[in-house]
Amino acid sequence: MKILIVGSGGREHAIAVSAAKSPKVDKIYCAPGNAGIGQIAQCVPIAAMEFEKLAAFAKEHAVDFTIIGMDDPLVGGIVDVFEQQGLKVFGPRKNAAVLEGSKAFSKDLMKKYNIPTAAYETFDDPNAALAYLKTADMPIVLKADGLALGKGVLICQTLEEAEKGVKTIMEEKKFGDAGARMVVEQFMTGREVSVLSFTDGKTIQIMSSAQDHKRAKDGDQGLNTGGMGTFSPSPFYTEEVDAFCRKHIYQATVDAMAAEGRPFVGVIFFGLMLTEDGPKVLEYNARFGDPEAQVVLPRMKNDMIEVMQACVEGRLDEIELEFEENAAVCVVLASDGYPIAYQKGYPIEGLDAFDNREDYFCFHAGTAVKDGKIVTNGGRVLGITAKGEDLVKARQKAYEAVSWVNFENKYMRHDIGKAIDDADVS
Ligand code: GLY
Repeated sequence: MKILIVGSGGREHAIAVSAAKSPKVDKIYCAPGNAGIGQIAQCVPIAAMEFEKLAAFAKEHAVDFTIIGMDDPLVGGIVDVFEQQGLKVFGPRKNAAVLEGSKAFSKDLMKKYNIPTAAYETFDDPNAALAYLKTADMPIVLKADGLALGKGVLICQTLEEAEKGVKTIMEEKKFGDAGARMVVEQFMTGREVSVLSFTDGKTIQIMSSAQDHKRAKDGDQGLNTGGMGTFSPSPFYTEEVDAFCRKHIYQATVDAMAAEGRPFVGVIFFGLMLTEDGPKVLEYNARFGDPEAQVVLPRMKNDMIEVMQACVEGRLDEIELEFEENAAVCVVLASDGYPIAYQKGYPIEGLDAFDNREDYFCFHAGTAVKDGKIVTNGGRVLGITAKGEDLVKARQKAYEAVSWVNFENKYMRHDIGKAIDDADVS
């Protein structure tokens, strides 16, 4: 089979590595890809939002199956364009990707179908939002309705902060059109867990759990980022939590989307909070998490292409997902200054250290080839993943491996997986 992967981050590198392991796959293309993906796939200089060009490429090169990694093209309707041209593609159609594309849609869906989530109100008018906030308890959460690179969520401790937040989102439009509508949500406390799943629109199969670290600095300080590291599985995702979510959240979401005439085929990412009142949905995403994919996919025993084909062909009930009985930790190496301002173009040394090592992965995110050398080309540069027999060993190995690679302005968090110490996992 010939595969095309759309995207250019660590998630797409992890998808490419899993695709390359499939005996079904002879050739992988990635658009636009990055330097690491280019070592196992042919990178194609077409941007992820150029749907017609991508579909034309897929036809011209007889691509059998396309995998969409990123949220923007999914929310923009890339799957519909491919399907209209008779191309096989993995991911939700536009009318289902709205599960991630509109926070107001997903909150209304959860309310209508009794899926546990925080109480909320939706506003199109900043004055109405400001009037509501005067009556609300603090802290409170403000969410830009649309996609905002994971940054459109503000947690406000006081009324003054919340009023400023309304201005930032709805008036100054810091997150662009994503802030034309805003969801105001009750603040919840608890541990966050990411649960990824495959679904064919009827059946849902749950992958191993993970936990992200979204803040830029140690101790969960600093600005929100795309994710500075992950571990899998989460020791806080107990059998009891799993049973509750299977009963009240996972199948309920798939059934709700089908009942709305929006069958969801692809990956649903459940961002959960384990509150005192039980697990609740913080957010849905319509694709693999990044960096979650970098710890979950390396632990999956199934042929990923076979699972994705089963989703597209509506026969996911024939598949049983299996994960290794181990753990993985990913530490993101970023450019210092991320997520605001940072230099790029620095040569990366030591990448060869990862060659032929089974338990270690160096997933590329912001990298490029310049004058024959691999250089930094983004905020998140590499995801260093290690597998170990348990979370403690995996974390130790991941933090050993981060010293194998170097580039000027290399930055990382030193406390990825600190939560592991709160649980008895060794
Ligand atoms: N790691 C969070 C996300 O992919 O949105």
